[in-house]
Amino acid sequence: MTETKSAATMRVWDPLVRVFHWGLVAAFATAWLTADEVQPVHEVAGYTVAGLVAFRLIWGFAGSRYARFAKFVKGPTATLAYLGWMLRGQERRYLGHNPAGAAMIVALMLTLSGTAFTGWLMAEPERVAMLPALPQIVAPAWADDDGAEYGEGREVEGPLKEVHETLANLMLLLVAAHVGGVVLASIRHRENLARAMITGDKRAPEPGDIA
Ligand code: HEM
Ligand code: HEM
Repeated sequence: MTETKSAATMRVWDPLVRVFHWGLVAAFATAWLTADEVQPVHEVAGYTVAGLVAFRLIWGFAGSRYARFAKFVKGPTATLAYLGWMLRGQERRYLGHNPAGAAMIVALMLTLSGTAFTGWLMAEPERVAMLPALPQIVAPAWADDDGAEYGEGREVEGPLKEVHETLANLMLLLVAAHVGGVVLASIRHRENLARAMITGDKRAPEPGDIA
């Protein structure tokens, strides 16, 4: 990275966004590594992910300028337009999250929520039974699968586990694309974005940048 030491910087990521980000990375990695190995740690790590995502939802409304969803979440049209600029190598530099990165953030948070929720449902059979509408809609399909019906003892098998694992595997793809996007944007705009997520600071906006 060719960053001039003297270049003016500006605070972009507030401390809670940074703690959220690296806490999420640590909790996700722990949940992943302990899956089917150390179940109590797996569940605590999974709940930590859920708690961090819940916090981030609140912070998306109450946080600082660049933490707010209203600042960075864009509709499909704007996101596709941005991807088009990217393909042509003409995308503008954003101080906050760019529209493609923002779409990825939404995908990451939704997938993490689904993973944690299915994990929670699976951990106690009574939890599935507590869902009011679900049994009527999906119970027949579930009953067919592997012969495992919920509520029958503590055997964790069947479609819920499939969904849980599929979402967890999808996370790996999303994280790879996320880190790829971070590297690409870092090269294009000649700044270390990962370091900015640690220090909170980025190069001050230049003409043409979107602050
Ligand atoms: C488990 C893996 C990861 C997950 C779940 C994840 C998730 C996220 C989320 C949710 C955000 C939005 C931050 C916010 O506004 O609160 C974000 C942003 C970001 N992440 Fe990650 N991340 C992961 C791994 C990484 C890694 C390994 C790096 C470093 C290479 C990284 C670098 C960044 C950067 C630089 C941003 C800001 C992007 C921008 O400038 O718009 N992430 N990540
Ligand atoms: C959000 C982060 C989470 C991730 C990335 C994750 C990932 C995984 C993966 C990959 C497996 C498959 C293990 C295998 O059989 O090879 C698994 C299994 C499982 N997870 Fe999670 N999980 C998460 C959260 C949770 C939570 C919050 C709970 C419950 C409180 C949970 C409960 C379970 C259970 C009961 C299994 C089945 C273990 C077994 O085979 O006996 N998970 N998880």
